[in-house]
This record gives sequence, structure tokens and C-alpha cells, in this order.
Amino acid sequence: MISVIRRIRDWDLHRRRFVSEGLSVGLVPTMGALHGGHLALVRAARRDNDIVVVSIFVNPTQFNDPADLKRYPKSWDRDRAVAEGAGADFIFSPAGEDMYPDGYAYRVSESRRSKMMEGEHRPGHFDGVLTVVLKLLNIIRPARAYFGEKDYQQLRLIQGMVQALFMDVEIIPVATVRESDGLALSSRNALLTGEGRSRAAAFPRYLREMSSADEARDRLVSEGFKVEYVEEIKGRRFGAVVVDEVRLIDNVPL
Ligand code: PAJ
Repeated sequence: MISVIRRIRDWDLHRRRFVSEGLSVGLVPTMGALHGGHLALVRAARRDNDIVVVSIFVNPTQFNDPADLKRYPKSWDRDRAVAEGAGADFIFSPAGEDMYPDGYAYRVSESRRSKMMEGEHRPGHFDGVLTVVLKLLNIIRPARAYFGEKDYQQLRLIQGMVQALFMDVEIIPVATVRESDGLALSSRNALLTGEGRSRAAAFPRYLREMSSADEARDRLVSEGFKVEYVEEIKGRRFGAVVVDEVRLIDNVPL
């Protein structure tokens, strides 16, 4: 049976025991609404560690748009069953006040990579992400933590933070899991209408197939997507679009 931990001090009791027994802990940070992408992270953690913790915390500080936070999908009972089915040992799901006893007065802020792409379109987003990930890593103290390439900019920023702050944890990247039509699995896909869902598959296709970022952007616009950005950095093409008022991001290696 999976154990659900809500209090930081309850996790501490378990953690001390695992340390004394020499057991390694792997952490998979999530915001819930678990899907096959999250499960790939849990399976990777299961492969590498004695104990697997999935954190479920819809982190308010990374939502620049309150409406987006409000409608973020929640499915607690299902998440619990799914995490257990994938082999997790613990769900860590703290209350907001416990994660932010300082009211977010202290935060991690990155001044370069976090200002472009997602950071440019979602001001403050990455400060919220880096701050909550630092807190989760300090609380759980895993040997390894798992992050998806689906959020490539986030992954690189977390790797950068761990290096810059000399943090003792290994960050393990996991490849993007996609539907059969190529759309990357995402909690936000559940918010799409049937029509929006079928149109959305063109997003990763044009990102991958067009010969330049500009061409991909033009093609997406002509297909009715609202395009926030398409950019190429170091052999990877990144994009963010809005379909059906749902914001989707993706990236593909070129
Ligand atoms: P969330 O969107 O729930 O994603 C949790 C983890 O699952 C992230 O590392 C994300 O990259 C990964 N993931 C999501 N969809 C994926 C897919 N289709 N294939 C592979 N991996 C996928 O990302 C966050 O939450 C938050 O920002 C968080 C890191 C938990 C901090 O609050």
C-alpha cells in the first residue's frame, strides 16, 4: 500500500530510518493529474532507487495567471491509485502553508535562461518552480530526482540550480511521452474539446517538420493556433501555442 504523507515532520521520521538502513530515495515532483508522462518518471525512479516518493503539490507561486491555477485539473483519488500502480512507495502532498511558512518572502531567482521563452511569456514562473523544487529537494533529500524533457527549459534550469548551489542530488532527465498522434501527454490536454484535441496534434508535427522556426510559426498561425513563440536553441526547437484557450508547450530535437 502506498503511504500518503502530508506533514514534513512525518516524512522526516521515515527518512531517518531509510538513511540508517542505507536505502536510496528517488523523488518525482509533480502537480498531480497524473498521466503516462508522469508514470515514465516514476518507473525510471523505481528502476534506480530503493524508495520512490511522488510529490503532488499544485504550486501556487509558479502560476502567473490565477485563472490557470483555479482550473488546473485535480484528481486526487485517481492519482493515488495511479502512483501506487506505477510502484511508488510514498505520496508527499503538503499543505500550501507548510511549504511557504515565509509567505514566499524567500525565493530562488535565475537571471538568464529563465527570462526567455516560458519565462518571457509567464513572468515569475521559473522563480516559483525553482523555489518549490529547492524546497522539495531539501525536505525529501533524495539521491536522485526525475524531470521530463517535455519541460526542457525547466529541466535545464533545475540542473543549473543544482550545480550553482552545490546541491547533493542527481537530476535524471526522462524522454517526452507522446500520444500515438504525437501530442505530448500533459495534464492540460484534459481541458481541450474534442475538436481542439484533434487539431493539437499538428503542433508537434509542425515543430518537427518545418525547415525553420519561422516557417513552423507561420504554418501554425495559418492552421489557427495562437503562437506565443517558436524558437531554436542548440539543436532543439521549442514552442508554445494556445488552442481552445488551452496553452500547450513542446520541444523537439532537430
Ligand atoms: P507537472 O506538470 O505535473 O510535471 C511533473 C513532471 O512530469 C515534470 O518533470 C514534467 O516535465 C514531467 N512530464 C510532464 N509531461 C510529460 C511527458 N509527456 N513526458 C515526460 N515527462 C513529462 O512540471 C511540473 O509539474 C512542476 O513545474 C514541478 C516540477 C512539479 C514544480 O512544481
